[in-house]
Amino acid sequence: MSTNSPNTPSSQGVFEGHKKIEKNVTLLAAATLATVAIGGIVEIAPLFWIDNTIEQVEGMRPYTPLEQAGRDIYIREGCYTCHSQMIRPFRDEVERYGHYSLAAESMFDHPFQWGSKRTGPDLARVGGRYTDDWHVQHLKDPRSLVPQSIMPSYSFLAETTLDSATISGKLTALQRVGVPYSETDVEMAEADLEAQANPDADAGDLEERYPKVKIRDYDGDPSRITEMDALVAYLQMLGTLVDVNSAAAQSELAEERGR
Ligand code: HEC
Repeated sequence: MSTNSPNTPSSQGVFEGHKKIEKNVTLLAAATLATVAIGGIVEIAPLFWIDNTIEQVEGMRPYTPLEQAGRDIYIREGCYTCHSQMIRPFRDEVERYGHYSLAAESMFDHPFQWGSKRTGPDLARVGGRYTDDWHVQHLKDPRSLVPQSIMPSYSFLAETTLDSATISGKLTALQRVGVPYSETDVEMAEADLEAQANPDADAGDLEERYPKVKIRDYDGDPSRITEMDALVAYLQMLGTLVDVNSAAAQSELAEERGR
């Protein structure tokens, strides 16, 4: 005479509870929200307690005022609409462009220039690949060096004197969003900018504050500092600050140690 039900009284209670949730939309939505929120909190909350989500790597430093001015021209001219600055960790990319990009390499970029379109090649490691003369000629007249190129000409950059009066304000703005420029860097910004583009000027402690800075006349016109100087200084710095092989080896070692 027993009912032979497989359900013990307690599991019957669970089924009853579930029925209630399934039949009540508001309750279902609330329960769903609670479940999803737990997942979200587990994933996101730890990020607020670790000091840095980007691994620090040796060699990365804020851009010099001249490089930063060049970067602003890069953005103004929309170079990012055709060029990316992120080498992905795939074999074909690494063979073509060099070591894949590390997160730390764009940590001082506001905004970052990873890009989503490659009409032209990736530029993340273009620094040092060509001479300054090559860049100047290429920017003035791309087709004189690469006949099939569809890149526009930017010859006006060589004729436009760089506006260096605004640079310390730009550094202050970057400082406010977390780029570690010192007070000296901000005060000296205009002088630093001029010193980097003029090998005859007294550069002071520029090289100590900005390791690996390349001091030279970039555009071949020593009489003044042009937008071309700034853009080429920026391009020649790209991908050269971090010794990627030792940085990647360091982080692998740290992972093995089970950080
Ligand atoms: C309409 C798309 C387009 C725009 C905009 C553009 N480029 Fe290019 N760029 C190309 C193409 C295509 C190439 C490959 C052919 C060549 O070398 O000219 C190229 C090549 C280059 C190269 C050589 C890269 C290498 O590894 O050989 C550099 C450096 C470069 N561009 C810089 C710039 C800069 C700086 C700007 C902005 C001032 C810019 N480009 C704007 C399309 C573009």
